[in-house]
Order: sequence, then structure tokens, then C-alpha cells
Amino acid sequence: MSRPAAMTSSFSRVCPCPKDLDPLRMPEHVAIIMDGNGRWAKARGLPRVMGHRAGVEALKTTLRCCSSWGISALTVYAFSTENWSRPGEEVNFLMTLFERVLQRELETLQQEQVRIRFLGDLEALPTRLQDLISKSAQLTADNTGINFNVCTNYGGRRELVLAAQRLAEKSVQGDLDPALIDENVFASELFTANEADPDLLIRTSGERRISNFLLWQLAYAEIHVTDILWPDFDSYALAQALLDYQSRRRRFGGLDSNRSNQEELNF
Ligand code: FPP
Repeated sequence: MSRPAAMTSSFSRVCPCPKDLDPLRMPEHVAIIMDGNGRWAKARGLPRVMGHRAGVEALKTTLRCCSSWGISALTVYAFSTENWSRPGEEVNFLMTLFERVLQRELETLQQEQVRIRFLGDLEALPTRLQDLISKSAQLTADNTGINFNVCTNYGGRRELVLAAQRLAEKSVQGDLDPALIDENVFASELFTANEADPDLLIRTSGERRISNFLLWQLAYAEIHVTDILWPDFDSYALAQALLDYQSRRRRFGGLDSNRSNQEELNF
């Protein structure tokens, strides 16, 4: 595949779909662990936070391409429950960055028909950020374009514990028969309620870990790991991940639907 001309970081420019990609076999939902911002900055002799700032540009390009290429949902890991243990200055920088970017991009998100939601334990975030998050979610709730989920103060285990607590409360109050708790009922208590599970997980910077991200939802996701550091992730890197996805045969624990059962049993 030939590398396309460098994509602009401007969110409002068109992002043409590479011809090698099959538009009929796009994942519905892509999840991304955006890793490597600190290393990207260090390699340039810059403070770590500059990596996060550059990461915003990569995120804007990725969102724009996903939206243009027919992907229905993009979920990114922006701040984990474990990230609070970073130096206070870096945490404060990230919180301010989320607020500034959201403020600055809200109008464009609205024009582009993006439906934005922040998923996680949002009450721990600074009040001004919380207010902006709920304003953005409300303003864009009826948009008809891509669902953009930003996992912030998110932890997969925490999400599962909160869901279990809510189900237990409903049962104790007599509103839910425990025997009726199945996978659908459980999933409806997660932050991602009403969102299809991701088909593809991309992790940048070469790490091969899930890192407490979408533990329930990634059960059957295809995983694409790239050595590219997040700020360098561009439309070409996204296309490579999607091509990798399109080369996989998804079986969901069963047999390949394109091959006869007899063929599968011939070993
Ligand atoms: C991981 O790299 C990245 C983060 C913890 C922050 C990601 C946040 C952004 C890209 C900004 C998103 C902005 C909005 C508005 C949603 P790292 O710091 O762990 O990198 P390292 O592993 O090289 O140290």
C-alpha cells in the first residue's frame, strides 16, 4: 500500500479512504490504547507533557479518518484509574488539556455530527471538566455520526465492580431477580451500555498488554499492536491496523463460517 500524503491535523479536512481497504469489512467499533506519548517527547528532548499535546493531534486525525471511513464507534483510553499515581504536574496538565481541547473542538464535533461521551468514574475529575463533559454529551447526544467515547478515570475492574454493585442493589431492593442476570443485563450496567463491543483493539508503542481497558467488552476483539508511538500514529498507521483486521478470520470461539464443518474437522 502506498503511503498517502501526510494527513493534516485539522479535524475539518477530508480524509479519503485508502483504496486497499474493503469498505464493506470495516470494524464497527475500534478501541485504542494511545500509548507512547512520554517516550515520543523524551526522544525529542521535550518534557513528557509535550507528548500528550502532540497526542491530541494524532487523536483528531484518527477520529476524522474513522468517521470518514465508515466506522461507527471509536473508544480511546485517555486516562486510567492508575494514571493518578503520575506526578501531580502531569495529572494537572492532562486535566487542563482535556478541558481546553474539549472547549476548543466542541463546535467542530457538533458540525461533524460526532456523538461524544466520557466513560469512567467522572466524579473524581475537576468540577469544570465535569461540567464541560456533561454539556458536550448533552449537546451532541442526538448527532448522527460516529460515537466517540473517551475513557477518562476509567478502569476495567472498577467498571465491573460498579456494575456488580448496581445489580446487587437492584436485587436487594426487589427490582431484579438474580436468576435473570445474564450477559445482556450485566452489559447494560457498564459505562459502555448501548454500545456494540469493539471489533478491533489497537495498542501503540509496542506494549502487549490490555492494561485494565474494557475487560468485558474486548472478549472477542482482534488485537493489533504497533511499535509506532501514539503522537506518530496517522491515517497510514490506522489503515495498516484496519488491513490487519480485514486479514483476520473471526470465529468467536466457533468454526469459520466460510468453511464447512467437515473441512474444519480434517486435522
Ligand atoms: C499514554 O502515554 C497516554 C496517556 C496517559 C494520555 C493520553 C491522552 C491524550 C492522547 C490526550 C487526549 C485528549 C483528549 C481531549 C481526549 P504515556 O504517557 O504512558 O507514554 P509512555 O508510555 O511513553 O510514558
